Amino acid sequence: MNREKKFYEMNLNQRLSLIASKTSLTKNEISSAVNEALPFDKVNRMVENAIGFFSLPLGIATNFVINGKDYLVPMAIEEPSVIAAASHAAKLAKSTGGFKASTDSSIMRGQIQVTNLLDIKKAMRIISKNKGSLLTSANSSSKNVKALDLKARVVKNEIEEGKMLVAELYVDCKDSMGANTINSMCELLGPEIERKTNGKVIVKILSNYATERIATSKATLRKKELGGAEVVDRMLSAYAFAFSDPHRAVTHNKGIMNGVDAVSIATGQDFRAIEAAAHAYACRDGKYRTLSTFSKSSNGDLVGKIEIPLSVGIVGGVSRVHPVAKMGLEILGAKSAGELACVIASVGLAQNFAAIKALSAEGIQKGHMKLHAKNIAVAAGATGHIVDIVSETMYRQSNINFDNARTILHELQDRTDSST
Ligand code: MEV
Repeated sequence: MNREKKFYEMNLNQRLSLIASKTSLTKNEISSAVNEALPFDKVNRMVENAIGFFSLPLGIATNFVINGKDYLVPMAIEEPSVIAAASHAAKLAKSTGGFKASTDSSIMRGQIQVTNLLDIKKAMRIISKNKGSLLTSANSSSKNVKALDLKARVVKNEIEEGKMLVAELYVDCKDSMGANTINSMCELLGPEIERKTNGKVIVKILSNYATERIATSKATLRKKELGGAEVVDRMLSAYAFAFSDPHRAVTHNKGIMNGVDAVSIATGQDFRAIEAAAHAYACRDGKYRTLSTFSKSSNGDLVGKIEIPLSVGIVGGVSRVHPVAKMGLEILGAKSAGELACVIASVGLAQNFAAIKALSAEGIQKGHMKLHAKNIAVAAGATGHIVDIVSETMYRQSNINFDNARTILHELQDRTDSST
């Protein structure tokens, strides 16, 4: 009996057909969006001093079941093994029902810094008394996204003696990331707050530390499918190392961000904002720690959980202007920013599961070097099926480098020339 081909076994045409069959997109729509260059006039409107664009490989992670829904997950990343690793871990999680994910809210903060205040407490009272009218002013700049609350707090100046007041707008960003709207609201309120408090308003900007937008995802991997109790224990020990030591925790979290960033880029998110918030959150108890936690279930399976701030959006932003980001969102099929955050958190956790599994067993280099060898073969000039011959020969010889790739390629060429 013919078994269904796995995604990685399919050729490009078959892959596009499969995506088309699971979405409302046609093969042509997907293919033209992901293969067409960004026109220069668009690029020139997106950034200053434009000269062209920079492209990244785009792949699809498979096997993801999140809150009972199947996903094809677009990932934009240059690093080999990441997409395969995420798909592998998602497959292990699938056999226990997949990822259970949630988000807490879509609220972000905007901050207005007020300095030179003679009486900070009085200024706080003024802001509190005028909260209603200040919120009305802030909301006059936006139709859908609304500021729900305004609070003031005191921040100790840790550079010079003194204190400053920070007025914080709590904005429900709904399905948008919210940066533009919040920044406009803050800039609108700045002069009003300055007038009312008699202080000096300096910074007016959103906080990317999205502590009200935490996404959580959890999954269980069966002991049997991981390779037994010993593997679970080794993975728990690897986790304990990362939780306890910041030098290891950074690398552990880098693995998580391999997944988080790749989906974020493929769907047009501000991945720098996500990175900055994630690492601050990793320090929330005063020490840099892992964004994921691992434990053992009562029957010895491995349970993993991730908690990460994710300020993401499915409306506005880059997804409006970038055809591939738009396509990425359509392939994913997330209907809300919260759903997108659940997917991103789950991919981060999957990536982490796969990395820790490999690290606590044979290490990551075996799988990595096979793909690396292919890249070296291409760089040395191999094309078509010759790429596989050159890379496999280098792999067998345990000698993967550019010079060896050239030597093997020349030998192959000499053999072909002499036989013709
Ligand atoms: C490599 O890109 C990511 C890993 O280093 C993550 C980790 O060490 O946990 C494998």
